[in-house]
Amino acid sequence: MLSYRHAFHAGNFADVLKHSVLTLVLEYMTRKEKGFYYIDSHSGAGMYQLEDEYAQKTGEYKDGIAKLIDNEDLPEALQPYIDLVKDINQAEQSDELALYPGSPGIARQFTRRQDSAHLFELHPADIEHLQAYSQRWNKSHVKQSDGYQGVLGLVPPPSRRGVVLIDPPYELKEDYLKAVRTIVNAYKKFATGTYILWYPVVKRELVEQMQDAFTKSDVRNLLQVEFCQKADTQEYGMTGTGLFIVNPPWQLTKQLEEILPYLKSKLGTQETSFTLKQLIAE
Ligand SMILES: C[S@@+](CC[C@H](N)C(=O)[O-])C[C@H]1O[C@@H](n2cnc3c(N)ncnc32)[C@H](O)[C@@H]1O
Repeated sequence: MLSYRHAFHAGNFADVLKHSVLTLVLEYMTRKEKGFYYIDSHSGAGMYQLEDEYAQKTGEYKDGIAKLIDNEDLPEALQPYIDLVKDINQAEQSDELALYPGSPGIARQFTRRQDSAHLFELHPADIEHLQAYSQRWNKSHVKQSDGYQGVLGLVPPPSRRGVVLIDPPYELKEDYLKAVRTIVNAYKKFATGTYILWYPVVKRELVEQMQDAFTKSDVRNLLQVEFCQKADTQEYGMTGTGLFIVNPPWQLTKQLEEILPYLKSKLGTQETSFTLKQLIAE
């Protein structure tokens, strides 16, 4: 089943959390000269036009990035992500918020000559967009193949430095545990890598199953962050979003402690809540 299109959701509150963390992680990786692999198991299209019919149909970015982009009271930890989105729009000479970067669009701003990006995508339309987007990005390798297997085939990177983003559409219930299993197995081969796993909060039991699977595994040093717009419900629909981050940069917890209350004040309602916990110690 491949009906999910990220263009409907680009720039929403879940992207804001995911992409601000990805920005901080990648910025940290570039502090050392030694090259790294960026591996994106579920890449999407790379870059999104917010004026197209998909984004306009749902208008989700209006309750996400659009509420932050012009703010002058941003916490320091959110600034690099907001600057990145602004720079991309300014490069297109647009004063409006016209473009929104997907995860490859963010990684592209950080990869240097010594780094490389390995991007997997299955959807026939999105892979075309991704290929076109990456055409002049020297160190990118785009593949129309399964991203879970792709990750396992690429670790450990030769430099033993790497960031893996796993961001499935969760159209299938299996994705929840398959994503965790992929990290558990990749970790066996590459225990020092940084792994970021995105998840939606749709049914609380599914998130608990992921937590359980991680805590029973050999994975160490796992941070979990969650931002829920609404309280958990048995009704259909995403009420919140979260990330599991294995081997996060040492200052990420502190940065998230700044980001989360700010997101609540700008994107949240009275029902909004967030959590940040070291689920597994170092
Ligand atoms: C949530 S979107 C990715 C968004 C992107 N990571 C970002 O942050 O901008 C999930 C993508 O995974 C793709 N996909 C679904 N199953 C896949 C698989 N097994 N391997 C690779 N890509 C897959 C979908 O077509 C969709 O474009």
